[in-house]
Amino acid sequence: MARRRVRVAAAEDVPAGQGRVVEAEGKDLALFNVDGAFYALENACIHRGGPLGEGDLEGRIVLCPWHAWRWDVTTGANANNPAVKMACYPVVVEDGDVFVELG
Ligand code: FES
Repeated sequence: MARRRVRVAAAEDVPAGQGRVVEAEGKDLALFNVDGAFYALENACIHRGGPLGEGDLEGRIVLCPWHAWRWDVTTGANANNPAVKMACYPVVVEDGDVFVELG
């Protein structure tokens, strides 16, 4: 199936160093801005479902707000055990809009 490009935010709504929970076709994603580069992960932490988009971002690491597991938002890998990964989605920024590619 072809990838679908879904607009999830205006780039200006997610300043560098921050994250947001956004929706793409009914699915919650966590969108992060690391020094101007955007990354999208599944929002529900695979530990117990905590909302990663509401976690504090330090550099490229987001801290899950529920039990503080640390995730590298650029790869989806757990910072302590990189073999454990969150699903990631490609992100494209065009004309000030942020799109996530699903599919
Ligand atoms: S739900 Fe994320 S660390 Fe527990």
